[in-house]
Amino acid sequence: MITIKNERELTSMRKACKITAAARALAGELVRPGVSTKAIDRAVHDFIVSQGAKPSFLNYNGYPASVCVSVNSTVIHGIPDGYILKEGDIVSVDVGAFYEGFHGDCAATYACGAISTEAQRLIDVTRQSFYEGIAWAKKGNRVQDISHAVQTYVESNGFAVVRSFVGHGVGRKMHEEPEVPNFGMPGRGPRLLPGMTIAVEPMVNAGTYEVRVLKDGWTTVTADGKLSAHYENTVLITDGEPEILTVTEGL
Ligand code: MF3
Ligand code: CO
Repeated sequence: MITIKNERELTSMRKACKITAAARALAGELVRPGVSTKAIDRAVHDFIVSQGAKPSFLNYNGYPASVCVSVNSTVIHGIPDGYILKEGDIVSVDVGAFYEGFHGDCAATYACGAISTEAQRLIDVTRQSFYEGIAWAKKGNRVQDISHAVQTYVESNGFAVVRSFVGHGVGRKMHEEPEVPNFGMPGRGPRLLPGMTIAVEPMVNAGTYEVRVLKDGWTTVTADGKLSAHYENTVLITDGEPEILTVTEGL
């Protein structure tokens, strides 16, 4: 069942999402040479708690941290540890916060110091593919209209979309229906209606789309060892243009 949020629920959802977006921005500011991924987790955890919210990811299906930090060929679900970021790394941070009964979910990939032109292009194409996708996030359209737009943009730039992980509805639960793949066919999938809230999250690989999960059960890496980037926002379907909820304005 796809849930439709009413205005009262959306008021809480907007608050949860603003906290989440601020946590992402904080993580992004911490991405620089010499900082450990564990230090980013600690800072994000403490910030979310300071806002009276809970880190959505902590203990979710046993996940041991408040943020995912995925460096270079790690696609998603990198577990913060003692790794020290170094110049040239690209660093995806994914964060969720739970507030007044609702989750926000967002991610972005940041450059650690100076990075290669090709790595920057991967980051830029991944971010833009999100905007290409949500241009279709309008009432009456179908979920895969978004998916198709993401895929077309990414592939026309010579990169590949990850298939085995997808975006999702988000609300009282972090993962709700519908699934929002980053590949698909126009006119397919559930119809979009005002009040639906979805996490649109392109995961884009520089090489093959294939990924594998390491023995820790979380860390997801590119099969070919090439770079990967991620960009995600929680988005509300409205009567008009989509509203990106994971923004920091007005926190
Ligand atoms: N943003 C991720 C997602 O959309 C969050 C999952 S990480 C986990 O699925 F650790 F919480 F599982
Ligand atoms: Co998500």
